[in-house]
Amino acid sequence: MKKQDIVRLSWDEFDEMRDPRPDANGFDAVVERAISRRGFLGGALAFGSAAAVMGTGLLSSASSARAQAAAFAFEPIDIATDHEVHVPKGYQWKTLVRWGDPLFKEAEGAYSAETGVPVAMSDKVFGENTDGMETFIDGDRTILAINSEYVNPEINLPAASEGVPRNADEVQLLKNMQGVTVVEIADRGNGYEVVLDSPYNRRITHETQMTMDGPAAGSDLVKTNADAQGMSPKGTMNNCGSGKTLWGTYLTCEENFNGYFGSTAEREATDGEKRYGVGGEGRYAYEKFDPRFDLSKEPNEPNRHGWVTEIDPLDPTSVPVKHTALGRFKHENAEMVQAADGRIVVYMGDDERGEFIYKYVSNGTWAEGQASDGILSDGTLYVARFDDDMTGRWLPLTPETTGMPIEEILVFSRMAGSKVGATTMDRPEWVAANPLRVEAYCALTNNKNRGVKPNAGGDEQPVGGPNPRETNNFGQIVRWRPDGEDHGAETFTWDLYVMAGNPTVYNNKYAGSKNINAGNMFNSPDGMAFSSDGMLWIQTDGEDSNEGEYAGQGNNQMLVGNPETGEIARFLTAPNGAEVTGLTWSPDGKVAFVGIQHPGGSWPDGEGKPRSSVIAVWREDGQAIG
Ligand code: FEO
Ligand code: CA
Ligand code: CA
Ligand code: CA
Repeated sequence: MKKQDIVRLSWDEFDEMRDPRPDANGFDAVVERAISRRGFLGGALAFGSAAAVMGTGLLSSASSARAQAAAFAFEPIDIATDHEVHVPKGYQWKTLVRWGDPLFKEAEGAYSAETGVPVAMSDKVFGENTDGMETFIDGDRTILAINSEYVNPEINLPAASEGVPRNADEVQLLKNMQGVTVVEIADRGNGYEVVLDSPYNRRITHETQMTMDGPAAGSDLVKTNADAQGMSPKGTMNNCGSGKTLWGTYLTCEENFNGYFGSTAEREATDGEKRYGVGGEGRYAYEKFDPRFDLSKEPNEPNRHGWVTEIDPLDPTSVPVKHTALGRFKHENAEMVQAADGRIVVYMGDDERGEFIYKYVSNGTWAEGQASDGILSDGTLYVARFDDDMTGRWLPLTPETTGMPIEEILVFSRMAGSKVGATTMDRPEWVAANPLRVEAYCALTNNKNRGVKPNAGGDEQPVGGPNPRETNNFGQIVRWRPDGEDHGAETFTWDLYVMAGNPTVYNNKYAGSKNINAGNMFNSPDGMAFSSDGMLWIQTDGEDSNEGEYAGQGNNQMLVGNPETGEIARFLTAPNGAEVTGLTWSPDGKVAFVGIQHPGGSWPDGEGKPRSSVIAVWREDGQAIG
């Protein structure tokens, strides 16, 4: 395949190409699948009925949630297939910041529609492919921290054939267009604008100096030629979803880090590398110009990525910290909540077919005003097992349960999860915790290999439990309620909030659950966040061809779900080609900031290159929108 076609692959297609999953299903797995289907389908269909999904069933007595207004505050919108953004009647939107927009005056005019951004200015502008983001407040100032997940090399390097970097400078430019942007914004009555030259403005890239903490920091697994102590990694990459700590710092989550590494010499991949898809040729040919990315020279460098990294957006001189205690995998986001006894809990998904959902629980407790020292470096990592009877258990990953030393458990968390029998999931994306009730939701975006092939570690992917559909192209959202209404509990009950599907094409399980209809259907739920009023905002990253089994679903979109009634309504549609990812609000809740990643056409400028952007959305009547 040509490089040009390779960089157009999604990250999961890229992984499948480099490291195809084992094909064979053993006889035992086929039998097990048949049994669990028989056992589960009744339950899955029952989910579709309003009574079972929405609270008169199993989970109804769990807590006294605040009643939700039945109707949405907006008129749901139709699908779109064009290259525009659409919002409901009575709402406005504008672009807040686009790929290449300046953060500093010296970078004004740096972006050109023909050539992109020159390398000298590439760490003084907003990065490409916006993703997770969070809002921070310092006195009366508003600061956003925003992930830039990856680059489209062809539009960043128009002079390079097929976007393949020709020299170290071009590699540097690609590195600088990714990572994290910290930017101050100001409300000047028009949905906010960027404050140029703010002291908060900062880029954190693949080159930024960081530190590591937790049990794997300093271990042999993370030592390199450049860092013999294994304590000072450089850079954060493939920054996907986000999180915000209760003490007001940013969590950026490193997802498809494996694709950045390649080898300039023939070598055999280790089992750990195979499980994470490390090996072969790097997506952006970094290894040809920077030995840090060359596996034949620095085999441990990939072990320094795939972590949750904490950044203090209010201190521009702060050094980001990679928290090894939270495990290494393809982190989607990090949703922090607190256990009843004050311990800190972080829910996390590992986005790959058949990988797991994790939670971290600190050993120490935290309260407002206390330092957070040790809270994210000293604790227990758990992995989820979902049972067909709609209960589940968090399985601790310890030397006792896995037979692995703690540093191996953390660096190769997937392998530890396999040892304890975690449930293979349909690509866990964002986790969102309901602020009004002790429960959490995880978007399981899709999984074409469900019931077809094992995961990368050879764990079977039987149909059943919260992954009830073979060849699952639509996705679903699972939610769990911890026993005792305590996020610190080791047991929970679960159900499916929604199974996406297409009821105009199918009248079987691919039609989706009962809260899906021709007017609100979608595929591939991905980003999720709760607004303070307890509504679940759902963003999609799926198939937007509007054809075949996706007919009538249009472009990717953002919907709002009512957790109590199960109702779901479409709020926003993205330009064709784009996914919607990343959502946060202004301090007064009157403006929502929404990420539009990898748009097609020439959105939003109307000519020239497509530019991924954060947009601002607000109500014309000045009311809060979430
Ligand atoms: Fe970066 Fe799984 O999305
Ligand atoms: Ca995502
Ligand atoms: Ca996705
Ligand atoms: Ca994506």
